Amino acid sequence: MAGVHVSTTINGDPAEFVCEANEPLLDVLRNRLGLTGAKEGCGTGDCGACSITLDGELVCSCLVLGAEANGRKIETIEGMADGDKLHPLQRKFIEHAALQCGICTPGFLIAARALLKKNANPTEEEIRFGLAGNLCRCTGYDKIVRAVQDAAREMRGA
Ligand code: FES
Ligand code: FES
Repeated sequence: MAGVHVSTTINGDPAEFVCEANEPLLDVLRNRLGLTGAKEGCGTGDCGACSITLDGELVCSCLVLGAEANGRKIETIEGMADGDKLHPLQRKFIEHAALQCGICTPGFLIAARALLKKNANPTEEEIRFGLAGNLCRCTGYDKIVRAVQDAAREMRGA
């Protein structure tokens, strides 16, 4: 199969790659570009471990083709911290011990950031609804919700 040449932007930097026409963006990120933060939990859009944003919209990168990223802006967990400075959500996940094995964590962080961009002051119900596409088999979710609430508070300067 002929390769598809893709020009895109990843975490603010221009990026180019060649992929197969039927290759999921998750595989491109992980196997071709070395961006292994997004995880493959299911490969079928059910777990959210592969979450990224495409032009600011939260997507499961296992359900997007690499070729579909052409001309669009990708943001992954690798771009979330500002150098050594963790994003407030990352800090609060650590402070609240909102992770155990960590497989789901990059997806939760990306989904939580997307949620807070749309709603800076979500209720607990809105957080649980906003993160409903992300599954965690370890934490029981409560600590994740507390971490997002705390980060939202800090980000609002409240
Ligand atoms: S790996 Fe994409 S949703 Fe599970
Ligand atoms: S911390 Fe293990 S799946 Fe969430």
